[in-house]
Amino acid sequence: MSRRPRVLLAASEAYPLIKTGGLGDVVGALPAALRAVGVDARLVLPAYPAALAAVPTARAIARSALYGTPLTLLQAELPIDGGRPLPVYLIQATAFERSGNPYQDVTGQDWPDNPARFALFCRGAAALALGHLAPDWRADVVHAHDWQAGLLPALLSLEPKRPRTVFTVHNLAYQGLVAGADADTLGLPADWWSPDALEFYGQLALIKGGLAFADRITTVSPRYAQEIQTAEFGCGLDGLLRYRSAVLVGILNGIDTELWNPATDPALAARYDAHSLERKAIDKAALQTELGLAAEPDALLLGMVSRLVEQKGVDLLLAVLGSLPAGVQVAVLGSGQAEYEAALTAAASQHPGQIAFKAGYDEGLAHRIQAGADAYVMPSRFEPCGLTQLYALRYGTVPIVRAVGGLADTVVDATAANLAAGRATGIVFEPASSAALAQAIQRALDLYRAGAPWRQMQLTGMAQDHSWQRAAERYLTLYQQLLAA
Ligand code: ADP
Ligand code: GLC
Repeated sequence: MSRRPRVLLAASEAYPLIKTGGLGDVVGALPAALRAVGVDARLVLPAYPAALAAVPTARAIARSALYGTPLTLLQAELPIDGGRPLPVYLIQATAFERSGNPYQDVTGQDWPDNPARFALFCRGAAALALGHLAPDWRADVVHAHDWQAGLLPALLSLEPKRPRTVFTVHNLAYQGLVAGADADTLGLPADWWSPDALEFYGQLALIKGGLAFADRITTVSPRYAQEIQTAEFGCGLDGLLRYRSAVLVGILNGIDTELWNPATDPALAARYDAHSLERKAIDKAALQTELGLAAEPDALLLGMVSRLVEQKGVDLLLAVLGSLPAGVQVAVLGSGQAEYEAALTAAASQHPGQIAFKAGYDEGLAHRIQAGADAYVMPSRFEPCGLTQLYALRYGTVPIVRAVGGLADTVVDATAANLAAGRATGIVFEPASSAALAQAIQRALDLYRAGAPWRQMQLTGMAQDHSWQRAAERYLTLYQQLLAA
């Protein structure tokens, strides 16, 4: 195919329109990277108030009623450095007119009508992809992300002349489950109530719209692509994933190296690169002041910026906070499950000056923790890719991670051999236990105090290239294979 493939990326979040986690970072950055390798990539998102506020120039280009629900299609352009702007489509409907987090109310409860909301989003996106809403553009490939866009490949499979479909799993643990009467109101074909289609232990799992129907399945690291085919990490879907393993591939995420660049980051007290790494100490001192930590330049300051959910191993971190070695400080920014927020708040008040916890979502502080911390902790129970350890590497902040998913694929453990070969970039530990995490922190402290090996790890990490180009080329190849088939 000689002309530029037209690819519609569909997802429930994309930075800078709206973001709750790494999905937003990825869907925010991938379209520009795809355009840079010659893809006519476009983005479609629900028109949440936050998204509309981020693109005030969005204009209505079509109106329709899908399955009885009125919706409006808006179009806007997002500027891209050094390139033509990215076309963004927003699907506007009453269901999306809720401020704040796109999935939850202010108390952290999922909106009960999420399956219906995202089913509507998928119907709108399918109509757009088929050229039914904006007649001057149709997609050759629809690239859907996570369960909220899971119905798209399934809906498109019903079309005689349809775009090819790719479904990317960012997190298999979120499945879009919907039971009984609620499922019936979605108006899906009756024969999708089958284990071969969407049925999942007596409910519908909207993620199966992607897993069972997409032409290709990808996930965000090679290790996670293997893991999700096992009972341990498969969340009940490993059988289906093994069955589809011939069309399943792991493509490691990149990071936005403009947005996450310690040499230019406007959020920092001091900017630095590998040649001015000593300036990182200014960011550390500023972070200690900002968070009320003791002004100790020689303490090993551990940072963490995370959704506070079971996945992230928050319980493992909590279990070691009471008995940290002297000379270790901890700074956590996060929001999520109330019990974790409460326990972190309590730990901070029991160890003032040594442990700091900031509840909530704060993009600027996330950058300042990456820059000001010496090491970055990520004791995840599972981790499809993980972006924050990649940001840490770029900021000369040594990651301490569990050997799972993308963490295992991106961090090289400081074994004697890896240190001697100049390959080590962090501390990697295996068991999901607080003892193993405590040991990893002690290893980090010893290396930090030794000085030279620590600096070598910082520099090795900072020299790595995690930009999006490689991943974008792999997605392009995938699209081309689908279009040639
Ligand atoms: P996940 O997608 O599982 O949440 P990732 O490591 O892939 O994990 O991405 C997390 C993204 O969300 C990063 O950009 C991180 O900085 C950001 N993030 C998480 N929690 C917060 C928070 N409380 N405030 C600001 N940014 C946050
Ligand atoms: C998910 C995963 C995370 C990954 C991100 C982007 O939220 O939890 O590991 O980095 O998606 O793909």
